Amino acid sequence: MDGVTSVTPFFIAATDETPSMTEEARINIFSMQSAMIDCENKLKWRITYMWAIKTTGLTKRYKNLTAVDVLSLEIRQGELFALLGVNGAGKTTAVKMLSCLTKPSEGDAEVGGYSILKNPEQVKRLIGVSPQETAVAPNLSVEENLQLICGVHGFNREKTETKIRELTSQFSLESVLKRKAGKLSGGWQRRVSIAMALISEPEILFLDEPTLGLDVIARHDLWEAIRDLKGRVTIILTTHYMEEAEVLSDRIGIMKSGKLLAAGTAEELKEKAGTADFEKAFVSIVKEGEV
Ligand SMILES: Nc1ncnc2c1ncn2[C@@H]1O[C@H](COP(=O)(O)OP(=O)(O)O)[C@@H](O)[C@H]1O
Ligand SMILES: [Mg+2]
Repeated sequence: MDGVTSVTPFFIAATDETPSMTEEARINIFSMQSAMIDCENKLKWRITYMWAIKTTGLTKRYKNLTAVDVLSLEIRQGELFALLGVNGAGKTTAVKMLSCLTKPSEGDAEVGGYSILKNPEQVKRLIGVSPQETAVAPNLSVEENLQLICGVHGFNREKTETKIRELTSQFSLESVLKRKAGKLSGGWQRRVSIAMALISEPEILFLDEPTLGLDVIARHDLWEAIRDLKGRVTIILTTHYMEEAEVLSDRIGIMKSGKLLAAGTAEELKEKAGTADFEKAFVSIVKEGEV
């Protein structure tokens, strides 16, 4: 990378500082220079873009409380990454910073290659968020909720209809489309909230505690819907359910007191803790983090 970046100034210097050069040589150098810049940009894009999310020293303080404490996370493109931690671990605060809803006290993060501090508008264009407190408008029908978000994104009537048809089929919303969102069960409201987050066709989707408070059937149904999204979009899912992290995710990050204690596949974390049981591995890693 350094090799590439250092070559470009050489070409710029060569064109500027050699006035006796023939026109042909000047054109050749100019085209080589353009090719180098193009190559450099592509390389930079590839290198940063391998990571859907890369944080550096991400920290959030509320007065005396440090909610997120120098968090270093690397999430690959296309991955389903679970942030696992007990209540108060800092999961929601981390998601809020990564989705530009709140500013870090220190540190930064690149989301889809853009800095949350310097390019929040570009970041917002790439992401979808289904927040912990569901975002459905209770007095509108499910269809009206979806229409509302299509309107926010400036979709015309045709695109709105197509999008609603697609999402209705993807999330099996046919039976609830005309019902008031506020009257639906928690599981259905979550499905609608995730469908709403997908309207903008995000590259990166944040699901903050998507199954919190759901009964076991609704939870399993939602897992199916989330599994269907895997591979199509990078997903960051927060949860305090160990089973959920284990069955859904490609990799898991264990958070405690705003810190990332460990990250890896469920298998790697079990190996690290020296146990075949994921719950035991979680307890062991969290306890070790207390020392
Ligand atoms: N707006 C806020 N003001 C003050 N403290 C907050 C605020 N938001 C979160 N916290 C505190 O930060 C810590 C982490 O909270 P949170 O990110 O919601 O954790 P989690 O989502 O893992 O349950 C908690 O101690 C919580 O009380
Ligand atoms: Mg939370």
